[in-house]
Amino acid sequence: MSGIKTLGQFIIEKQADFSYAKGELSRLLRDIGIAAKIVNREVNKAGLVDILGDAGTINIQGEGQKKLDVFANIQFISALTSGGECCIVATEEEDEIVRIDSPVSKNAKYIVCIDPLDGSSNIDCNVAVGTIFSIYRRQSVEGEATLADVLQKGTQQVAAGYVIYGSSTMMVYTTGKGVNGFTLDPSIGEFCLSHPNMTIPDGGNIYSLNEGNYVHFPEGVKKYLKYVQVHDEETNRPYTSRYIGSMVGDIHRNLIKGGIYIYPTTAKSPNGKLRLLYECNPMAFIVEQAGGVASDGFNRILEIEPTELHQRSSIFIGSKEMVNMAEGMMAEFSAEKNVNTVTTQNLKQVG
Ligand code: AHG
Ligand code: MN
Ligand code: MN
Repeated sequence: MSGIKTLGQFIIEKQADFSYAKGELSRLLRDIGIAAKIVNREVNKAGLVDILGDAGTINIQGEGQKKLDVFANIQFISALTSGGECCIVATEEEDEIVRIDSPVSKNAKYIVCIDPLDGSSNIDCNVAVGTIFSIYRRQSVEGEATLADVLQKGTQQVAAGYVIYGSSTMMVYTTGKGVNGFTLDPSIGEFCLSHPNMTIPDGGNIYSLNEGNYVHFPEGVKKYLKYVQVHDEETNRPYTSRYIGSMVGDIHRNLIKGGIYIYPTTAKSPNGKLRLLYECNPMAFIVEQAGGVASDGFNRILEIEPTELHQRSSIFIGSKEMVNMAEGMMAEFSAEKNVNTVTTQNLKQVG
């Protein structure tokens, strides 16, 4: 075993860094790791058992649920329930917050927001899917935890991570002290540290967005797309287009190679498509911790004040120089869409 560090060993070793509730947060991360392994097992044999296809149900966001969406949702809620460190799970697949009422859990200190299965449209065709999670400290001190405990800004996250069920399965997470990645070794059933201190290159040449929506994009995104497609040897343009339709997969690749992922507002999704609590905030926390930037086009994602559980946002996330360039074009050409008064740039200067 020499040279191998498992996720469990790493979490215990690093728990001295946590300023608060050391053991509880470690156990919570461990519980998420266990559920991820169970989901991984089912994803891997999806073609062999009756778990592909639609569940025949629709979630609150009007999206058809896949059997694996439902399965993953149950697994994570169940692991977090038996772990006892989480009082509320907010999940993309449930209309309302899920309160965990067991005597141990109802006084637990943590809230978990989760997208149990990201990239559902890829499930049935063997393309990478993922899980995204975000952990907050409960703010209320007495009575039962409420929705207000869940509606915290992304800056309040104590940990966030994702699991990618890809050509290998990886878990990548941050507790606000950098980003580390672990690859699942199926022979021993453990996530092992494989990508310590992950950093995203400041620049890159990959852009990821659904170009099929071009006619519905804001003017700033159209201008940025023109920019990335122009021939210019000095800046290595045109850039390369890569989009698989699983946010986890697209952002994981860009984190390693350098790149930008954009899901802007569109005519069909005037507030953006991706969910602030389950997708944008956790990915923004991870990417910022790796040295990148995450914006809604005008403002830092992590500073957005959530008002609704299933709130959506536009997102521009990835390598610093690329996101800054796209933000510049949004400010210049899509300024009318900037409903907020504070810009990301201002926030950085103030901060
Ligand atoms: P989910 O499967 O959790 O609903 O998320 C899908 C998201 C995201 O992962 C992906 O990048 C995006 O939706 C794809 O949307 P389009 O098909 O509109 O490009
Ligand atoms: Mn998703
Ligand atoms: Mn999902």
